[in-house]
Amino acid sequence: GHTDHNKDSLQDPNQPNQETLARLERDFTLTTAQLQSLVKVFVNDMKRGLRSDTSVFKMIPSHVTSRPNGTETGTVLALDLGGSNFRVCEVNLEGKGVVRTRQRKFVVSDDLKTGTGEELFDFFADCVIAFLAEIKLPKDVNMKLGFTFSFPVQQLAINKGIAIQWTKGFTASGVEGKDVVGLLQDAFHRKGLKIEVSALANDTVGTLIAHAYVDASTYVGVILGTGTNAAYVERVDQIPKWKGAAPSSGEMVINMEWGAWGSEGVLLPTTSYDKQLDRASANPRAQIYEKMISGLYLGEITRYVLVDLISTGELFRGRGSAALAKPYNFDTANMSRIERDHTIELSDTRSVLEELSGIQHTSLADRRLVKRVCELIGTRAARLSAVGIAGVITKINRLDGCTVAVDGSVFEYYPHFANRIRDALREVVGVNAESIVLAQARDGSGQGAALIAAIN
Ligand code: GLC
Repeated sequence: GHTDHNKDSLQDPNQPNQETLARLERDFTLTTAQLQSLVKVFVNDMKRGLRSDTSVFKMIPSHVTSRPNGTETGTVLALDLGGSNFRVCEVNLEGKGVVRTRQRKFVVSDDLKTGTGEELFDFFADCVIAFLAEIKLPKDVNMKLGFTFSFPVQQLAINKGIAIQWTKGFTASGVEGKDVVGLLQDAFHRKGLKIEVSALANDTVGTLIAHAYVDASTYVGVILGTGTNAAYVERVDQIPKWKGAAPSSGEMVINMEWGAWGSEGVLLPTTSYDKQLDRASANPRAQIYEKMISGLYLGEITRYVLVDLISTGELFRGRGSAALAKPYNFDTANMSRIERDHTIELSDTRSVLEELSGIQHTSLADRRLVKRVCELIGTRAARLSAVGIAGVITKINRLDGCTVAVDGSVFEYYPHFANRIRDALREVVGVNAESIVLAQARDGSGQGAALIAAIN
């Protein structure tokens, strides 16, 4: 028969420990008030970055001073180094906002990421050679090329920029402090290619420009992928540090490098897990905001939490696994699968834990706890992203309506991410949130650089 709930019973065996849950929720939850005050600091930090190069947001003038109007035409090559992939595409601009592309994707191995710059750039040249062969163009073809390099670069001209520092796990030697267009051009020469690089752009700038080609109300481009960052259209009279000529448009696209937020100190509400991740990362004390939001890191934060809960016996009755002990071995894609698991027994979560982490014999309470950890970390990431989006739109006074083009695997594939951003936007900017359009952009980073190459 049915047993009465015993009010004094401390613990339903199918539910995670209440104290554990409460502690994690306290650690990872951002209240509306916290979001609102973060937005204020964010806007202020944007202004500081527009005044000086040594501020937390680098606010890099991209030298892109006009947005396309959709009538541009031509055929251009685009190279796109994002996080783990390198893409080569041929972009046909056909006017009327139409972009046709053929493309090929190459995987950048960990060895290439952490080897020498020369090997890395030689690899890019080899990829171009393979692609030209595939689309039946001669190796000595002379076309314009746009290079999307998704790392912080001090942009000196539309086709010249000094790599400031690596992010997202790259450490290839001999690149920081060098002009990356020069490095690419040198590799082309070594390999017998004649192509001239006519534009260098960050992926956020490319995404913004590509989307503006099809939607003129686009003022912001955001990447929520392996890393995170944004670019937006600023008025030149709002950029005191800009010493170049005043563009006739009066506008300048700014690559914010917003991932760096929090690197100055105690601003962001980090947990002990975030601190462990940061200390063990390839770039300690840098890119703190990125480490709380983007795909390279969400799984790793989760892994740290799980390892801790195992060590205290709060999870899996204290039994861990070698796989889970290994840094970066719990992919953010696992969190997506777990968050998407709506089975009564959380059987997909069970499979993820068994297949990918070697954790056998989990209880329902264990799986519920794991799922809750993912929700907390995923939700915090989305709410922090909303702070950035609200901050940018507040800064440019477009709360009454604008389009934000968003690309990246986290935005595209992580369940509920977009809705969680929208909820948080409502909390911070109220009804204005309804006039902010978050548009899913795809492959814009390369196309945008191609567009910039085409008009320069
Ligand atoms: C990292 C890079 C930045 C890029 C972002 C998204 O934050 O520093 O340049 O835009 O990742 O790929």
